Amino acid sequence: MSAMNNAAKVALVFGGSRGIGASIARRLAADGFQVALTYVSRPDKADETVAAIKADGGAAIAIQADSANPADIRNAVDQTVTSFGLLDVAVINAGVLKMGTVDAVSIEDLDLSLNVNVRGVYLAIQAAAREMKDRGRIITIGSNTAIRTGSVGGSVYSMTKAAVAAMVKGIALDLAPRGITVNNIQPGPTRTDMTAEMIDALATIVPLKRVGDPDEIAALASYLAGETAGYMTGASLTIDGGFVL
Ligand SMILES: NC(=O)c1ccc[n+]([C@@H]2O[C@H](COP(=O)([O-])OP(=O)(O)OC[C@H]3O[C@@H](n4cnc5c(N)ncnc54)[C@H](OP(=O)(O)O)[C@@H]3O)[C@@H](O)[C@H]2O)c1
Repeated sequence: MSAMNNAAKVALVFGGSRGIGASIARRLAADGFQVALTYVSRPDKADETVAAIKADGGAAIAIQADSANPADIRNAVDQTVTSFGLLDVAVINAGVLKMGTVDAVSIEDLDLSLNVNVRGVYLAIQAAAREMKDRGRIITIGSNTAIRTGSVGGSVYSMTKAAVAAMVKGIALDLAPRGITVNNIQPGPTRTDMTAEMIDALATIVPLKRVGDPDEIAALASYLAGETAGYMTGASLTIDGGFVL
């Protein structure tokens, strides 16, 4: 999609400071969207991503908003609307990975995972939909572990990502009357800070014999955000080098 077509359009990326979310923020800005992105712990990375977008001629703002905090989520939407106008696109990328076998998982890790990866996603969709134009686009970042957990100690994470795939189907039905589509990208191993310690080992067991690049996930988000994806909704799209096949 050309920048011209999206000149006045607005995208909000929850968790857009680094990794996959930063790539999506940059890609949507290159597609012509004015981009707001949230972060929780890394203002330096958020500023870097905003600066990179501006250096390329785009418009971007960073908003500190903890996805575990419902008021922060609503505030991020409000700030975006105040700065740029009603939303065309919301990408809910913010997520945490807490590994641990069932005997060892702490209540803190369980609560954080549920609060950010499940409740935070639901509340972000809810808040964004209220301030979104009809025929808008909602995109979640789930995980291929929703289909196959794949590793010992991954029960909590895969459980949260399966919840995302399930909520997307129900919410897609709820928002269909407004023409808003709701789709879920399920990446496999992708090189980011989240996977830094395990990524080289994972590369050897991906059928395509490599891991994903965040820009490859961003390209799929760009498609889902675009005009030509308007007939797809409720889908979970796995992009993982064949890992779960
Ligand atoms: N990398 C992979 O292999 C992979 C595979 C499948 C799915 N995913 C999913 O893809 C998404 C992005 O992962 P990533 O690998 O890019 O991770 P990452 O490099 O760790 O980046 C995580 C991003 O989410 C933000 N974030 C985390 N907790 C947050 C919170 N409570 N409130 C607001 N923002 C929060 C971070 O903000 P700060 O910078 O401020 O901390 C950062 O922008 C996640 O949902 C993850 O589960 C990743």
